[in-house]
This record gives sequence, structure tokens and C-alpha cells, in this order.
Amino acid sequence: MPKEKSIKELEDLPGIGPTTAEKLKENGYDSVEKIAVASPHELSELVGLSVDNAKKAVEAARQATTLEYSTGSDLYNKRKALGRISTNAKTLDDLLGGGLETNAITEAYGKFASGKTQLSFQLSVNAQLPLDKGGLAGAVLFIDTEGTFRPERIESIAKAKELDPEQAMNNIKVVRTVTTEQQILSIERADKLVRDENIKLIVVDSMMSLFRSEFIGRGALGERQQKLNSHIHKLQALADTYNLAVYVTNQVMDNPAILFGDPTTPVGGNIMAHAATTRLYMRKSKEEKRIIRLVDSPNMPEGEAVIKITTNGIRD
Ligand code: GTP
Ligand code: MG
Repeated sequence: MPKEKSIKELEDLPGIGPTTAEKLKENGYDSVEKIAVASPHELSELVGLSVDNAKKAVEAARQATTLEYSTGSDLYNKRKALGRISTNAKTLDDLLGGGLETNAITEAYGKFASGKTQLSFQLSVNAQLPLDKGGLAGAVLFIDTEGTFRPERIESIAKAKELDPEQAMNNIKVVRTVTTEQQILSIERADKLVRDENIKLIVVDSMMSLFRSEFIGRGALGERQQKLNSHIHKLQALADTYNLAVYVTNQVMDNPAILFGDPTTPVGGNIMAHAATTRLYMRKSKEEKRIIRLVDSPNMPEGEAVIKITTNGIRD
């Protein structure tokens, strides 16, 4: 795995100022690793650096990038250190292999009222619980892109978990975003907050709605996917760096190519599909019952869990 030393940002490279760094990022060179494998001539042409300066930047990036080899048992030990946040429903926790995993992005997709947001509220409370109660004793960063965050739901769910509701609400840092620019910035600038507040869960509810409304038509798709890609990479980087869990919700559409069976497909294309470590498909059933299907997981078999949405939160 590539590892960076003191040079972390593009701006740390010799000859790269903020404007050049910005241009590089726009062209997909958004990390020191990518500069390390770039051709100096191409960089020079792209952003108007002299070839000599581009060579110096590439050389510095190469020196800052070393390869680290890990053995299977190193990785196994690292996986054992992963944290888990309980969803508050035993069957769903079991389906996930013990709850929502840190160092990973978990995506929940489904139609309206399928429970995606309700599950985010429960996780936002449970993340605050001590380790032996299914939590990570941490705070939460909640990116609300749809204006559906409800403090009164947090209050009821927290009370049911015997947490001080006032404190539980204060431990959730909510950012209401109305543009993709704000959504992207809220994650790009999160490092300090994550460290200072011991954030253990980041929620993005929902991931795609602003991207879908701002980038309309075929012509805009390329740009949308490029922005989405770097946004998701930053989320994954936060998850890895701070050993925290990321829960994102996603909308669905009917895929006309699926003639038989359920045509419900998450939006966001390949970029979303590859980014999510684990995908959950949530379906409404009778009354407060919801069926959750594990669709994609690196280490758990596919399966289903049935949960209930109650005033006090998620239950078996
Ligand atoms: P969209 O954001 O519209 O795509 O849907 P979603 O999947 O986020 O739905 P959400 O999680 O908001 O679930 C809404 C469902 O939760 C509704 O069917 C509500 O009836 C139920 N719900 C919300 N609040 C309460 C509550 O306080 N008590 C109970 N029993 N159910 C609730
Ligand atoms: Mg919702």
C-alpha cells in the first residue's frame, strides 16, 4: 500500500502553488501518488508548468511515496481491530457480521420510506454508546443533503438507549448542504473536526440527490461522476485514516434493462457500486416492518434481515 511521508498534499511539492494544485486536481491528479506516476511532459502541458519544474515535482512525489508490504496476518490483525456500530437489531447486526464496520463505506439504498434515514438516526445514537454496548464511544458527523434530519427522533432514540438526549444531540454535528459544492467541502474540510471531536461515524443522507439535481443530461454525466469519485475517495480516506464508519444512503431507479425480477437499482452508476464496501437494499413490508437485503459484501454471505421501525428506533 502506498504510504506518504511529510509530503501529503500536492501543494507540498516543489514548484506547485495553490493554483497549479487546483488545476492538477481538476485534471484528475488529486494525490501525491498520482503525480509520482505521471509523465512530467504531460503535467507540463496540462497546467503550464515548465518541464523542468514538472520533473522536480514528479521526482519529489516519487521519493515521498514508498511501497509498504503487509502480510496476510498483518491484515488479519488489522481487521480484528476494526470497530463495529450496532444497528440495534440483532438480525441486522448478524447480517453485517456484527454491525456497521469501520474503515468502510456502507450504503443503504431503497425507495422512499424504506427506512434509510431512520437507520441513520439509530446509528448516530449507537455510535455514541460505549464499546461493550455496541458503540464506539464517539461523535457523529451528519451531512444532511435533503433536510430530513430530525433532532426529536434523536431525542426519542437516545432516551430509549438511556443516553442523555441533550448530550446525544450535541454529539451529532449536522451540516445541512444544498449544493454539491457544499457537500464536497463538508467532507474535504472534515479532518480537523473528526480529530477534535472524536468522530466515529460519518453519515451522508443522501449521497446522490444533489448530484442528480445539479448535473442533468448526458453531457453532464462525465463531470458528475468525476466529482462524485473524488468525493467518495475522500470519504474512504477519512474512514481509513481515523478508523471510523461511513454510512451513506442512496436513491433508486427502475432499471429498464431488468425484465424479470426486481428492477430496483441504486443510482450513481459504477462509481457508487465500487465505492461501497457493503450495500444494503431496504424494502418496505407490512406496517412498520422493513426487509433488508445484504447485496454486496466482501466477507459475508448474501441474506436478509427483517427489522421494525418504532418511535424508539430500530428493533428486531
Ligand atoms: P426517503 O428519504 O424518502 O428516500 O426515505 P427513507 O428511506 O429515508 O425513509 P425514512 O427512513 O425516513 O423512513 C420513513 C418511515 O419511518 C416512515 O414510514 C415512517 O412511518 C417511519 N417513521 C418515522 N418516524 C417514526 C416514528 O417516530 N415512529 C414510527 N413508528 N415510525 C416512524
Ligand atoms: Mg431519507
